[in-house]
Amino acid sequence: MSRIVYVNGDYLPEGEAKISIFDRGFLMADGVYEVTTVVDGKLIDFDGHFVRLGRSLRELDIENPMDRDDWLEVHRQLVAQNSVDQGMIYLQVTRGAPGDRDFIFPDPETTKPTVVLFSQSNPALVNSPKAAKGIKVVTIDDIRWGRRDIKTVQLLYPSMGKMMAIKAGADDAWMVQDGTVTEGTSNNAYIIKDGRIITRALSNDILHGITRAAVLRFAKEAQMQVEERNFTVDEAKSADEAFVTSASTFVMPVVEIDGAQLGTGKPGPLALRLREIYIEESRKAAI
Ligand code: PDD
Repeated sequence: MSRIVYVNGDYLPEGEAKISIFDRGFLMADGVYEVTTVVDGKLIDFDGHFVRLGRSLRELDIENPMDRDDWLEVHRQLVAQNSVDQGMIYLQVTRGAPGDRDFIFPDPETTKPTVVLFSQSNPALVNSPKAAKGIKVVTIDDIRWGRRDIKTVQLLYPSMGKMMAIKAGADDAWMVQDGTVTEGTSNNAYIIKDGRIITRALSNDILHGITRAAVLRFAKEAQMQVEERNFTVDEAKSADEAFVTSASTFVMPVVEIDGAQLGTGKPGPLALRLREIYIEESRKAAI
């Protein structure tokens, strides 16, 4: 079935939506994106994603082409027109298409940002078979650029990282810089030791996950101990539990790191409890 997608103000069947070959998103990865989850036909943490989008655009000096209510309206239209019950809305804003290739940014007065949104349905988001089993990760060097806090569409290395993981018989990769884990290829990384949840503190080294913020808030509300600090690969391998968070996976238990099994090799109780709380609370607050 063909989706209805959004491109620069129009809702079109996906096969009819087109952007220029000179678009700077295409030529230079000069753009940012957001992924907002849909559960029960409603948006999870829409405002968190909207605020981070604004920050990413400001950091790159790209004009925000819409205000909050217009963004919300497009998200809701795509959910409705594509009958999405569980899944996500992908949003991308690029610096636009100046009509030729040039390293210099085009004049924002004459070149307007390109805006594209589309939906993806995924009925197995909440009752995920992967979450019931847990995932295996391998570690790889983090060779990305220094502004990982900006959610740019430069996803080649994360994509290669996932392929390295699959080739190694795992599901995903954790990236390592100076011996400590930064984050997963498309998620934030956590370990649990003696009941304490440990995750890297926010900086330019990692994306400031919207799911991360919610999960840490819920963990503190549930009287769980949280430590925001660097952790090493060795510490991770000897952790009691581990998990990752992202809009598209919620809280996903990790059961193996570089071939080392964590605990019993099954998803840990705290990770599963956090997943439950996150889904329950997010469903209540969805708009
Ligand atoms: N990825 N870190 C990285 C590098 C990410 O790409 C993502 C999200 C996260 C988690 O952020 P959030 O909780 O706001 O989704 C952390 C999205 C889901 C993606 O690229 O599909």
